[in-house]
Amino acid sequence: MSPTVRVVAHPNIALSKYWGKAKRDGNFPAVPSLSVTLSGMATRTTVRFVEGLADDQVSLGGTPMTAGLTKVTALLDTVRAAAGIQLRAEVETANDFPTGSGLASSASGFAALALASVRAAGLDWDATRVSGLARAASASAARSLFGGYVELPFGAEGARPVATKESFPLRVLVCVATEEAKKVASTEGMTTTAATSPYYAAWLEEAPRVHERLRSALLADDFSSVGALAESSALMMHASALAAGVVYVKGVTLDVLATVRELRAKGTEAYATMDAGPHVKVLVRPADAAKVHDVLVHVPGVLRMLTTEPGDPARVVDEEP
Ligand code: DP6
Repeated sequence: MSPTVRVVAHPNIALSKYWGKAKRDGNFPAVPSLSVTLSGMATRTTVRFVEGLADDQVSLGGTPMTAGLTKVTALLDTVRAAAGIQLRAEVETANDFPTGSGLASSASGFAALALASVRAAGLDWDATRVSGLARAASASAARSLFGGYVELPFGAEGARPVATKESFPLRVLVCVATEEAKKVASTEGMTTTAATSPYYAAWLEEAPRVHERLRSALLADDFSSVGALAESSALMMHASALAAGVVYVKGVTLDVLATVRELRAKGTEAYATMDAGPHVKVLVRPADAAKVHDVLVHVPGVLRMLTTEPGDPARVVDEEP
């Protein structure tokens, strides 16, 4: 039996979004992306390779996993091939936030699985290589191997850190709009967008420009530009998806967006971003977090709010021989 390795990983929120895949095998994004890894939400995953199992045994939140099992087994197969082992794995994973609803559970989930399985198999891989393994399963997961601000450049195997969590003070207010899993997974949503959206070509052209400008603004400590560019990246991504009939927003999403824009018009700098789900994540300076929270928490349809901040990389928290 292999060691039992326990890992914690955090989700990340893309400031410049990945949406669409490159025309090559291996799950490479069609555009670069830049995210912030968030404390305050976490996936905890334990992996060990054991004798006598016919298949990998995977549980999510205490229940045997069904959706997404193929990607888990494919990742474990890559690790087994690299380590030269045949053993099947026991995987236990749990999120302390809603799973599969657009809160980036696949990002923290596959980052945690990649790191835990690499270590349990005894492979001495650096973070970039582990990030590449996570990317092949779910590209946003590549970024959760690192803490702070992280980019996944176009064509890169793995993600790389861009700025430390301390270098750009930020609070991300997550407005939870549903506890349910989404109906269209992001892989399917982006594939449909690429195949049928009349605006997908425009997205492919604009996304790298927004990414470069956002990266420069981040490194120049320009909060206003980072916020404005992040909001525009999200709106462009959703516009391309909407034009293909891929609708992740709900009424509450647009109501929060409108409230964020009203706050801005009245002089409080808040910016909105949304991934493949109805939740809005609002970017504010730390000093404005309490005030903006108190406004958004009253928007009808906001079930609850989480206040998060730039967080740490995926890490091994326990290892038993
Ligand atoms: C909207 O990483 O979930 O969150 O690689 O197909 O698993 P797959 O997609 P996934 O897509 C994330 C899309 C996004 C934007 C982002 O995180 O960059």
